[in-house]
Amino acid sequence: MKQIRFLSLTLLGAAFIFGGCNQGAKNKSMIQKELIGTYKGKEVYQMTLKNKSGNVIRLTNFGARITWIEVPDKNGARENVAFGFDTFDGMIKGDPYFGAVVGRYANRIARGKFSLDGVGYSLALNNGPNSLHGGPGGWHSVVWESEIIKNAEFPTVKFSYKSPDMEEGYPGNMNIEVTYTWNDKNEIVIDYACTTDKKTVLNITNHAYFNLHGAGNGNILDHQLVIKASGFVPVDSTLIPTGEIRPVAGTPFDFTTPHTVGERIAENYDQLIYGKGYDHTFVLDNKEEVDASVYEPVSGRLMEVISDQPGVQFYCGNFLDGSKIGHGGKPYIYRSGLCLETGHFPDSPNHPDFPSTVLNPGETFKSQTIYRFSVK
Ligand code: GAL
Repeated sequence: MKQIRFLSLTLLGAAFIFGGCNQGAKNKSMIQKELIGTYKGKEVYQMTLKNKSGNVIRLTNFGARITWIEVPDKNGARENVAFGFDTFDGMIKGDPYFGAVVGRYANRIARGKFSLDGVGYSLALNNGPNSLHGGPGGWHSVVWESEIIKNAEFPTVKFSYKSPDMEEGYPGNMNIEVTYTWNDKNEIVIDYACTTDKKTVLNITNHAYFNLHGAGNGNILDHQLVIKASGFVPVDSTLIPTGEIRPVAGTPFDFTTPHTVGERIAENYDQLIYGKGYDHTFVLDNKEEVDASVYEPVSGRLMEVISDQPGVQFYCGNFLDGSKIGHGGKPYIYRSGLCLETGHFPDSPNHPDFPSTVLNPGETFKSQTIYRFSVK
């Protein structure tokens, strides 16, 4: 982070501190906005949001990402638990998805093909035979407009993006707004709002990677996971749903009670083999406030996930290989981060029996996901 500050103040010479947030005063929330570079002619900013508890998250309008979540352990020691990079260059050239908003269709669409009202659409294939995460030029890779919401109760930043008709092969001009609020309960509240002028499909998520030991501090196999899901979405060897919704009961996918990520990951179970570990959508029961939680007993950090969506993709970093050097020069090694990506199921446009991902003109897609941090 220091490197980014240095860049913004000396090379680009444009750092903005926004008032109304009482910078420097104790127990006050604040937002600081800094220019950190330009990408394809557009200015990229970093926003630092501090809540009244003194905890900090950082966001950027490159991919509307979360780049830093600094929260205390049970002894009050703060550490960043989200994957990201210390430099602008690192972020632009690094992993495309760390912390990013993913769309227009998060997860996979089989062979990059779907149809709406008899009209076929073809997407770029960027993941074997399939299209992944909105395609190579998806929303993770564009510079969003950003706005600090003045007079909000808590530090709040709104990112907006206009996705043109047929961008990455998807029909309809779409307006997307993603609002992040960092409240005093250490909750990142993410509000999504999307509209279109033509019938289209939409599956939007945030792709933050978490390690509650601190990002870059070993693997997440000891993290204790709960997912309130009685079923999950089995996939084929290219990670496309088979169409089945399988009960988790009696399988290594039963996280309805706490299990560590690593406990059953090496079992000889078809879906663990296809997924190379856990890389599956869980069908949320949506009966309780909290849909999923992750607890790391050494630090005592707990993260709870609350969503109004039908599913959550639990991915445990099976494709991380240590080649991405993140915050503090630490490599992100195999299974050193986990994602809980709230949203719809993969390939829903080709599965009429899955919850619909169609968005029509005149409708507004609204959704909220909360990542809540505490200790126990
Ligand atoms: C996840 C997906 C994984 C992998 C990852 C990005 O959402 O489930 O299979 O593609 O994104 O590396």
